[in-house]
Parts: sequence; C-alpha cells; structure tokens
Amino acid sequence: MEYRILKIHIADRIAVVTISRPAALNALNSDFFNELNHFLDDLEPREDVKVLVITGEGKAFVAGADIAEMVHMNSEEGFNFSTKGQRTFDRLEQFGIPVIAAVNGYALGGGCELAMACDFRIASKLAKFGQPEMNLGMIPGYAATQRLSRLTGLGNALYLILTADTITADDALRIGLVQKVTEPEMLMEEVMKLATKIAGNGSQAVPTSKRIIRAGIAMNFQDASELEAVEFGKQFNHEATKEGMKAFLEKRKPDW
Ligand code: CAA
Repeated sequence: MEYRILKIHIADRIAVVTISRPAALNALNSDFFNELNHFLDDLEPREDVKVLVITGEGKAFVAGADIAEMVHMNSEEGFNFSTKGQRTFDRLEQFGIPVIAAVNGYALGGGCELAMACDFRIASKLAKFGQPEMNLGMIPGYAATQRLSRLTGLGNALYLILTADTITADDALRIGLVQKVTEPEMLMEEVMKLATKIAGNGSQAVPTSKRIIRAGIAMNFQDASELEAVEFGKQFNHEATKEGMKAFLEKRKPDW
C-alpha cells in the first residue's frame, strides 16, 4: 500500500509512525484508519520490532476526528465512523508490543483518544490535551467517555468532557493523563531512549506484562492474579527467562 498520511520509519527494533497531514492538523479521516490498519497488519507478524511509537507532524499530534468528513454524515455513517475508530484504537491497545504516544502538540478529541489508546504518553511542554467535542455539539466517539475516566478518574473525565476545556501538558501530567513532559526539542530523543530501554528488556516478558495488565483491568482481582500466576509459570519454558536469571547470578548482562 502507498501511504499518503503515515510516514513510517523502522530501525533498531523500533517503529515510528508519524501522522502527516499537517494542513489539517493531522485530523483523523477514513484514509488514516485504513492506512493505520494496513500498517498494523504488516507489523503484527514481525518479530524484529519491539516497540511502536506514534507521533504527529507539525504543531499537532492530532487535532481530532476530521470535522470536514463528519459534517455530512447521517446517524448510520456516524455510528460506522465511531465504530471503525474504536476498533482501530482497541487494536492498538491490545497490540502485541508496547505503543508509546509521543505527543508533540495538540491532542484534542480523537487525538486525545488516540493517545489514550497507546500504552503511555510522553508529551512536549507545548502539547495541549482535551475533549472539545461539546464545542461542536457532540460527544466523543473514539471511547474517551470510557478511557479518560479509567486513566484519570471520574471527576477529571467528567470535567474535561463536560467543559470541553483544553489543558496543558503539565496539567495532563498532574492528572495522570501523561507520564512525562519534556522540552519540545527533547521529545523524540526522550521517547526513543524509553523505547530503546523497553525494546532491550526480556523479549517475551514485555508483551506478556502488557497483555496481563490490560486483561486484568477487565477482571476481578482474584482471577487477574490467577492469570498472572499462570503466565508466570509459562515463562519458565522460555530461554529468555532462564538467561535473564542466569546472567544475574553470573554477574553479566543477559544475552537476549
Ligand atoms: N478536523 C478537520 N480539520 C481540522 C481539524 C479537525 N478536527 N482541526 C483543525 N483543522 C483544520 C482547520 O480547519 C484548518 O484548516 P484550513 O487551514 O483549511 O482552514 C487547519 O486545520 C488549521 O487549523 P486552525 O486554523 O484552526 O489552527 P489554529 O492554530 O488557529 O487552531 C486548534 C488550532 C485550536 C486545534 C483548532 O484547529 C481546533 O479547535 N480544531 C478542532 C479541535 C476539535 O474540535 N477536535 C475534536 C474533533 S471531534 C472528534 O474528535 C470526535 C471524536 O471523538 C470521534
């Protein structure tokens, strides 16, 4: 497929996807979802890529779903547009490797929802977050009504969605929406450092941890702990686990 919106760079076990539609502040349209799904299809079977980073080109990470595409929709089309976005973001959330959002600028509406579907968010000081859908007389459609409260608590989710207020990166850090704020020029360096660190951790332990943490959220504590014990046991079949422990005892770096 020829990508027109995504720029893709893969090197040293890390894939970086840059959403590049800067004239529309990287607003998410149907073509974007087609391209992202196609890219995820290609990436899924690859064993050489350990971390996926998503960022935006220009002054926005993503300024929302594409209002110019939505303005002509009827109810059924609106439902389909929402469902396609939700399924794609669910896919990112469940994706086999960690996904980091490098939030370079505006992360509004669908952009904030995209960032929330990533495993964590590192933001430039210039980034702005919010769910401004109320200003358009609509509700969020890519699961902000669910993910925002899970990430930041009920009060913060209700506040952000009902006021449509936009908040700074520092405020987003304060409410737990982002994990780290950097100087703008340091954003990609910090993100790549983090991605490299994660890519170098035990190869099966990282995706397994992600899967259990995510699955456990939807389970009761007892069942989730049991799942952890089952997966903890399974890892003793992996050479990487044996090597990790042996390396510690032999006072050397693991050879993964
Ligand atoms: N959809 C389509 N086009 C958009 C867009 C969006 N979400 N956001 C910005 N653009 C376009 C503008 O229309 C403009 O295009 P033209 O140059 O052709 O006029 C271009 O991007 C630049 O935008 P601005 O001139 O507005 O830039 P600014 O710096 O003055 O303002 C901004 C930046 C505050 C982010 C402003 O663009 C803005 O408020 N954007 C809309 C944000 C929004 O409401 N997002 C939610 C969308 S709804 C949604 O996401 C629903 C969902 O959950 C599925």
